[in-house]
Amino acid sequence: MSERVLNETAIGGGGGRNGDAVERATGERRVRVSLGARSYDVVIGSGLIERAGAHVAALVPGAKVAIVTDETVAGHHLAALEGSFSGRAEVRGRFVLPAGEATKSFPELARLTEGLLALGVERGDVVVALGGGVIGDLVGFAAAILRRGVRFVQVPTTLLAQVDSSVGGKTAINTAQGKNLVGAFHQPALVLADTRSLSTLSPREMRAGYAEVVKYGLLGDREFYIWLEQGWRGVVAGNDAAAVTRAVEVSVAAKARIVERDETETGERMLLNLGHTFGHALEAWAGFSGRLLHGEAVAIGMAQAFRFSASLGLAPTEVAARVERHLREVGLPTRIRDIPGPGAPDAAELIALMAQDKKVMAGRLTLILAREIGEAFVTRDVDRAAVETFLQAETA
Ligand SMILES: NC(=O)c1ccc[n+]([C@@H]2O[C@H](COP(=O)([O-])OP(=O)(O)OC[C@H]3O[C@@H](n4cnc5c(N)ncnc54)[C@H](O)[C@@H]3O)[C@@H](O)[C@H]2O)c1
Ligand SMILES: [Zn+2]
Repeated sequence: MSERVLNETAIGGGGGRNGDAVERATGERRVRVSLGARSYDVVIGSGLIERAGAHVAALVPGAKVAIVTDETVAGHHLAALEGSFSGRAEVRGRFVLPAGEATKSFPELARLTEGLLALGVERGDVVVALGGGVIGDLVGFAAAILRRGVRFVQVPTTLLAQVDSSVGGKTAINTAQGKNLVGAFHQPALVLADTRSLSTLSPREMRAGYAEVVKYGLLGDREFYIWLEQGWRGVVAGNDAAAVTRAVEVSVAAKARIVERDETETGERMLLNLGHTFGHALEAWAGFSGRLLHGEAVAIGMAQAFRFSASLGLAPTEVAARVERHLREVGLPTRIRDIPGPGAPDAAELIALMAQDKKVMAGRLTLILAREIGEAFVTRDVDRAAVETFLQAETA
């Protein structure tokens, strides 16, 4: 799949003749997400934040922009982003919100949407989300509902946001009832993934984002997985610009192709949830806290999906062991006992948490299992008792 993906991204670059010249000069890569009238480009490159203003002005000449970010990201990257608009587009204002998951809330949404209205943001304007998945999800949702929909541009600054949350148009906030339960599908008008911005991210956040990168190899691209097994260090350390760019590009292209076929997640898009059904249960058990980051939970969940597939006789045991070995080498957790802190969940608790997952339909668990590396599939046919037996062994 990776060869096809790379060819498509190379040809699919919709940047026009000027775009091509810029791409040659800067090493920028483009992945087109083709969704009819909602199509857009994901541009990937080092130093892109400094060229963001040029990209936005080319897309929407004369637009005025509002920038939204969080306090941590603002300290590192806001000045460069704002500077890039100088002489190209008027910045109406900026919002610097608290960093962290708690910002994906109704109170912050209300403050932000009213703040944007107070600034005079109109339908022809552009709202720019500078940050990780928290800022991207909140700003995307605010843009979806503001004046019944304004354009927004994602400038993702975590590896997770670059390879996953900034692409695909899912936006949401959290409520007391759970994560991401209130939201909308609202595609960005453009995504600018600056690989250099990752240099300020903590190693732990880089590893967690890397779990989502490996996911694309494991679910559908064996060649990419093998490339990662050999070259992961340059990606996780973030200091090999070519390696990071390729990892982001292949990941985004894989997600784009799946989203194009199933924008609203009725079927194939569920493949992207590899490791997420088990992972979400663990995240929920850990209280969605710094104790277990999303990507870390996904790493355990992916290792579990392969172990479970092996225990059902669907995948060879050596394949499950190989996946686990790679994740551990990177420094990611693969077992429930790897979660730091007191206590451990039992099988019944995890089953109950899995049953609350959005991926449950008519009481049946939807699981993503695999036959091999690069050969994942969606199933609703797994017996709950088999899941329980497996989780009993996992929690013993
Ligand atoms: N919409 C989707 O399809 C989708 C997919 C996956 C995850 N998500 C959502 O994404 C969120 C998680 O995203 P995340 O992991 O990016 O978390 P995040 O946005 O909280 O970022 C993690 C931390 O890194 C900091 N940070 C961000 N960029 C930085 C940089 N360049 N340098 C230094 N620090 C930086 C942030 O301030 C934050 O403290 C969750 O809310 C999850 O639900 C959404
Ligand atoms: Zn995820």
